[in-house]
Amino acid sequence: LKKFTNQFRIGYVKSRGYVLPEYYRKFGQRVEELEVRDDDLWVVSFPKTGTTWTQEMAWVINQDFDFEGAKVPLPERFPFLDHTPLFDYTDILPNLPELQLPLFVSDSVTYINEMKSPRYIKTHLPWELLPKQIREGTKKPKIIYVARNAKDTCVSYYHHCKILEGYSGSFDNYCKLFLGGSLCFAPFWPHVLNFWKRRDEPNILFLKYEDLKKDLPAVIRKTAAFLGKDLNEEQVDLLAEHLSFARMKSNPAVNYEAAIEINRRFNLTTADGHFMRSGQVGNYKEVMGPELIAEFDRWTQENLAKSELTF
Ligand code: A3P
Repeated sequence: LKKFTNQFRIGYVKSRGYVLPEYYRKFGQRVEELEVRDDDLWVVSFPKTGTTWTQEMAWVINQDFDFEGAKVPLPERFPFLDHTPLFDYTDILPNLPELQLPLFVSDSVTYINEMKSPRYIKTHLPWELLPKQIREGTKKPKIIYVARNAKDTCVSYYHHCKILEGYSGSFDNYCKLFLGGSLCFAPFWPHVLNFWKRRDEPNILFLKYEDLKKDLPAVIRKTAAFLGKDLNEEQVDLLAEHLSFARMKSNPAVNYEAAIEINRRFNLTTADGHFMRSGQVGNYKEVMGPELIAEFDRWTQENLAKSELTF
């Protein structure tokens, strides 16, 4: 194990223009050929854009408000397709019994192949690397894509990489990696825009983190309509409460505290912190200076100039 620890995302590979974790080698081809089901529900995103929030919202709505079932850890209910570590976590589990870990998916593709329908699948893979059946349109699962403004995404990703991936460089260097498209699942804008341009397809719903923050009940209603579910106002309020930042932060099924604890033990943590960190729009202002903000804004404008997408 030692050789896999203390290395930022272990290493990288590139596929179809995107940077991917080294362990992509283990699942890339199998994802390409994955048997998709029309009643799958996918949440797709660039990391740190509100994936977990969107997953929990979509799962509760689609499971008709099964809050008892929602106590099962999210990675079991809604597994992460592109997370098949190079080593088998189950080897480690007997050594850490006190953590009461949620089930670890050491082979995500096999786990997903064996799931009962409706399956819930999370992925950070871009459109270009989704299973062939989705790209070619022979299967049309429901796909919710969630996007977030680049500056907050970058700051959130920086903290994520410190608490979970062993990043030990500076914030400024991290921003350069983000802007330069060198982080896992980058480049950022093609990832977002390739779903944005498909936003009107009936099986695709494009959401923005900023809209969840601004009016969560409205996004809940929109998502329910997309999933073909009728909700009354009481249900909308109940779910908005369940999805509040404070409730998510203290909910062990979704807050990834156990994962952080494991990574701490394996030296993959370079700072203390929580997955549910700030939960704000505009948090970047606390860490980015005016020049960096101007650089991100210029870069955003250049990339969004030809689209109607705004943040
Ligand atoms: P911050 O680091 O800015 O706080 P992902 O799930 O894609 O990794 O995204 C994680 C980001 O979503 C974190 O952002 C996290 O705090 C935020 N988040 C998760 N649940 C949230 C909620 N209920 N309300 C607001 N933000 C939430």
